[in-house]
Amino acid sequence: MRYSEEFIEKVRAANNIEDIISGYVKLQRKGSSYMGLCPFHNEKTPSFSVHPGRQTYHCFGCGASGDVFNFIMEYDRMSFQEAIVSLANRAGIAVPENDVTEEQKKAASEKIRLLNIQKDAAMFYYYKLHSQEGKVAVKYLTDRGLSAETIKHFGLGYTGKSGSGLYAYLKKKGHSDRDLKESGLFTFNEAKNTMQEKFWNRVMFPIMDINRKVIGFGGRVFGDAKPKYLNSPETKLFDKSRNLYGLHIARSSREKYMIICEGYMDVITLHQAGFTNAVASLGTALTSQQAALLHRYTKDICLMYDSDEAGVKAALRAVPLLRSAGLNAKIVDLKPYKDPDEFIKAKGSEGLAERIKKAENGFMFEIRILYESYDMSDPQAVSDFYHEAARKLLTFSDEIERNSYASSVSRMYNIAPEVLKRQLGKLAMQGIRSEETPQMAERPGKKKDKTYDRAEKILLSWICQKPETIEMVREYIGSEDFSEGLNRIMADNLFKMYEEKRFNPVAVLNLFEETNEKSDAAAIIEGSLIPEREEDFNKAIKEVMLSVKSASLERKIENLPVSDMAAFQKVMAEKKNLEEMRKLIGG
Ligand code: CTP
Ligand code: MN
Repeated sequence: MRYSEEFIEKVRAANNIEDIISGYVKLQRKGSSYMGLCPFHNEKTPSFSVHPGRQTYHCFGCGASGDVFNFIMEYDRMSFQEAIVSLANRAGIAVPENDVTEEQKKAASEKIRLLNIQKDAAMFYYYKLHSQEGKVAVKYLTDRGLSAETIKHFGLGYTGKSGSGLYAYLKKKGHSDRDLKESGLFTFNEAKNTMQEKFWNRVMFPIMDINRKVIGFGGRVFGDAKPKYLNSPETKLFDKSRNLYGLHIARSSREKYMIICEGYMDVITLHQAGFTNAVASLGTALTSQQAALLHRYTKDICLMYDSDEAGVKAALRAVPLLRSAGLNAKIVDLKPYKDPDEFIKAKGSEGLAERIKKAENGFMFEIRILYESYDMSDPQAVSDFYHEAARKLLTFSDEIERNSYASSVSRMYNIAPEVLKRQLGKLAMQGIRSEETPQMAERPGKKKDKTYDRAEKILLSWICQKPETIEMVREYIGSEDFSEGLNRIMADNLFKMYEEKRFNPVAVLNLFEETNEKSDAAAIIEGSLIPEREEDFNKAIKEVMLSVKSASLERKIENLPVSDMAAFQKVMAEKKNLEEMRKLIGG
């Protein structure tokens, strides 16, 4: 559903970013921009800024940034298209009908039909549970400690003993076979031309998206049969990696943190016990998309995985994953109980609240598990442990944070602080960041990759913020000097717009459809502060240009066809220019 650039710009022009955002966030004027409390993460002092001149926002705390469309997309959880329509409506601009292609209309209406099937199926299962036939399922759930209210709150259901009624029911509701085949609720037998229900004799847990729309199901057997849980397959609606069970309720919990646990029953029992901030990933390991989803609501996570070995493993994976999504994780120890469900049955909410208070810091948890994996009576193991711990500490790019963890580690494991510090310094000099695998760290050029990527981004950012500099930059650098991908696309378009005398950096964001690409691009525009003093800026931009250009030349030289003398001469001439440029600024 692509709207024309002209229409998008018209909508943008009619929606002043400071007016729109001040409808959601209390803004205060600070010089040429506005500041307020960031709506995308919890904070007490304002680090969220809105820049009327550029019509962008940027949070110095969590890095959220973008234009008025991004804001609405993030805040109201809309797609780009939906945000455009919403802002057009606000401004009273008519939305061109023919901008919607037939295909897009079809996809949208198919999605609505598929959602209706899931909703009707949930109704069917719900009725079944409360029918005569469902008594056994109600008993099962009641025996597991769920109240009638909880059963209703989560919309739990029952399939019936043998799968037979659902197909007829959904047909009567007017759904087509074609849609039913897409629903994930049936197995289609081509030879016999029959539709068999996938779920039978199971308690059904409807899975909802954040808008409380049913997108799939988990179904549990009563006894010990296998598989214990059966889940809807991935469908056009249901993407396991992007949804979390219980989030439709947990998102409006007043708690500042979220609980992640493993199972459906854990979530439900937690909610019933008052922990309405609990969610579970859907029978798979936590994904980065789920972490990003959670980041919209909180910065603090309490991991409540099962207390077995698998649970520890899952937590060890989740902690760094959450960290790289900007989330702090703490780990709750449920021992001697198996999972939150069993813990609450034994110790109640007060007992669990106590454990949450004592939860272990995610990083210290990682270090402890690491420690336990070594035999500390072996000197080599001791040294390996120090080494590994130092590597892990280097994942903190913030020095204060790193130092504070370093002192905790040295205190806890009796490592002399100087020894750990020396080790850290040594590793840092080698440029080994521990999130890189050893092979990556050893690969030559890896560190350089990062440097030039940064230089390119700084240059792009400064061009956007200070368009007059492009005149000087253009003399030495073309868009082909930027590395392929986001940087190149942005450079291409910025140069083009400048030549065509319609320079508007924010319009570059229209090139990107995906929210994360858009916000990466927005982060580039906003990302780099301009040195305040003119002379500092002039010196700095030259250095940045030099580093972009020399990396580009190196790439060109690497890729030179051996036999192409003309190309070789051209690159050498450029290289000579570069040397002169370097002398000129004394670099
Ligand atoms: N799971 C699954 N498929 C299975 C087993 C488990 O999808 N065959 C998922 C379910 O989401 C389940 C979670 O993994 O809730 C945790 O599994 P497990 O610890 O085995 O079950 P419990 O949550 O303890 O389930 P219950 O209390 O109902 O026995
Ligand atoms: Mn359980």
